[in-house]
Amino acid sequence: MLKLIIFGPPSAGKGTQAQRLSKKYGIPQVSTGDLLREAVAKQTPLGVKIKSYLDTGKLGPDDLIVQLIKDRVSQPDASNGYLLDGFPRTIGQSTELDKMTEIDLVLNINVDLELLVERAVGRRICTKCASVYHVKFNRSKAEGVCDKCGTALIQRDDDKEATVRNRLNVYKDQTAPLIDHFKKKGNLVDIDGSKGIEDVFLQMTAAIDRLSK
Ligand code: AP5
Repeated sequence: MLKLIIFGPPSAGKGTQAQRLSKKYGIPQVSTGDLLREAVAKQTPLGVKIKSYLDTGKLGPDDLIVQLIKDRVSQPDASNGYLLDGFPRTIGQSTELDKMTEIDLVLNINVDLELLVERAVGRRICTKCASVYHVKFNRSKAEGVCDKCGTALIQRDDDKEATVRNRLNVYKDQTAPLIDHFKKKGNLVDIDGSKGIEDVFLQMTAAIDRLSK
């Protein structure tokens, strides 16, 4: 059983690393952002309610998000653990998570502000398989096309610079305070996210592998 949180500001590299860790450790990536974008694309009742939050970079209501997570982690593929990506993001969500389960490790990615903006604005995603690319740091082999499934890549609506800066403020006000909470619990490890994708991955796997020693 392995339960992890990948934590950090918008475009720190949570999704990029979560996809790789999920493959290496055989546990699903549970990304609230991906689940919400899927709900919006399918126009489910949740998607209709949540769309305006995503468009403006505000956080969705805690009760909806907590229910989404509870439903997802009760699926059979999460029976050996999971990797939470983008959850919890408020004190309220963290309190609910503490009631649900114990987390083995929180991987806290640190990256400077201006680099975060550059990473977000240059990000391109695949709407079919959720693979993540960057126009400068992590290019697809053929421009604008997903390497894995051949779907056209898009820029997320919330990756326009003004919305990115808004999301960074939301992170600072509502999400960063959780770092102290994790530190008190003693399960947080800091990761230098300014390094390249492979280096960041190695820092993370080293921290996870120390758990079993
Ligand atoms: P969400 O999708 O979770 O967005 P986020 O936290 O803002 O995180 P991002 O997806 O922007 O970035 P990331 O850290 O995954 O970075 P990535 O790997 O893509 O949430 C979106 C919205 O949903 C929120 O604004 C909110 O409205 C709502 N929401 C979600 N969760 C919620 C919750 N719990 N409660 C309430 N509302 C919620 O990398 C970014 C780019 O950098 C990519 O192009 C990548 O290729 C590149 N890159 C990655 N690593 C590196 C590296 N080491 N070096 C160079 N480039 C890199």
